[in-house]
Amino acid sequence: MFSSRTNWPLTVNRLSSEIEELRRKGRPLLDLTESNPTRCGFAFDKQAILEALANPRALDYAPDPRGLLQGRQAVASYYAELGITLDPGQIFLTTSTSEAYSYVFRLLADPGDAVLAPQPSYPLFDFLAGLNDVRVIPYPLIYDQGWQIDLATLEKRLEARARALLVVHPNNPTGSFVRRRELAELLEFSRRHEMALVADEVFADYSLAEDPQRVSSHAASSDALTFTLSGLSKISALPQMKLAWLVVNGPTELLQGSLTRMEIIADTYLSLSAPLALALPELLETRRTLQPQIMERVTSNLQALDARLRASQPVSRLVVDGGWYAILRLPSIRNDEEWAIALARQDGVLVHPGHFFDFGSEGHLVISLLTKTEVFEEGIARIIARVASTTEGPR
Ligand SMILES: Cc1ncc(COP(=O)(O)O)c(C=O)c1O
Repeated sequence: MFSSRTNWPLTVNRLSSEIEELRRKGRPLLDLTESNPTRCGFAFDKQAILEALANPRALDYAPDPRGLLQGRQAVASYYAELGITLDPGQIFLTTSTSEAYSYVFRLLADPGDAVLAPQPSYPLFDFLAGLNDVRVIPYPLIYDQGWQIDLATLEKRLEARARALLVVHPNNPTGSFVRRRELAELLEFSRRHEMALVADEVFADYSLAEDPQRVSSHAASSDALTFTLSGLSKISALPQMKLAWLVVNGPTELLQGSLTRMEIIADTYLSLSAPLALALPELLETRRTLQPQIMERVTSNLQALDARLRASQPVSRLVVDGGWYAILRLPSIRNDEEWAIALARQDGVLVHPGHFFDFGSEGHLVISLLTKTEVFEEGIARIIARVASTTEGPR
């Protein structure tokens, strides 16, 4: 009855059933995975947001496959502030980056083709690729006082059917940005193998420190066919608005061919509603009051974390350059899932096990830096105490 692409393992994993059980029993939980920005106590400009959605021009139906020009001009202005000049014709509005990924995979790949994706990274890649009949070939990011792309392994993993190389800038959950030096190699690699580069930049505005070695945005890359994805879910912390975009750039001929074909894909769906496209300029503007609040939360949580982690103790954190997450390293006397279950059951603390993001080895827990600071600090204290008592006491 059903397609094989929907043959997902449908059993609930051990951690999820444990958490369900704790919630059913009414156990108070400290959720260190909270990354829904609408639930983290930030002050949104409610009036501006709601008024933006009430533009009378939305009463007229004037379909445009790329999304209404006014919205695309606002996206072009966002990039202009980064020093990148784009023609609104290079921009397509979508209802999510997930939809943008689908458009790009549909444009580039036939069933059975593959995309190269970083590991560890965004857990949705397997689903996004699978739903578009595309395979994911992971390429590793390696950690040595900071993350970097393992270019040698990337080259080795390449297959004839690879159609695109994905990067996440900064990556979720490692918080690592692509460096200029890496981008030069990735572009050369993509050109040489006739692949496109796909850059997910949803967290790009959340940088913890300036770094001139870092790529500012892939939207400026025209040496290889490049698709840059972003949207309001992180930029303005408005995931409920369902508004994202993709920017196409590249060598002239490839760019023109892509735009023409992408226009037909987008015209088939005409997915973004007029009220949202017209609201985009104001909704993007709200980032100016939201992003400082988020950066303040992220930095104060990181400081609180560092204040509690002493160099000598068995819990440490990995270097993070941006984004909304931190990665804790724990002794691998237990695997990640066992740590996460023990913390939920014994301490009422929720964390993501590293395997959720496909870490290559055990000993990693991922926590959200958006968590309210009181919850975050108490949660960290309990994690440290749990690890100390597990490593010191009898097992
Ligand atoms: C790397 C990455 N891309 C995209 C998204 C989601 O974007 P959207 O809501 O536009 O689909 C997320 C959400 O966590 C993410 O981590």
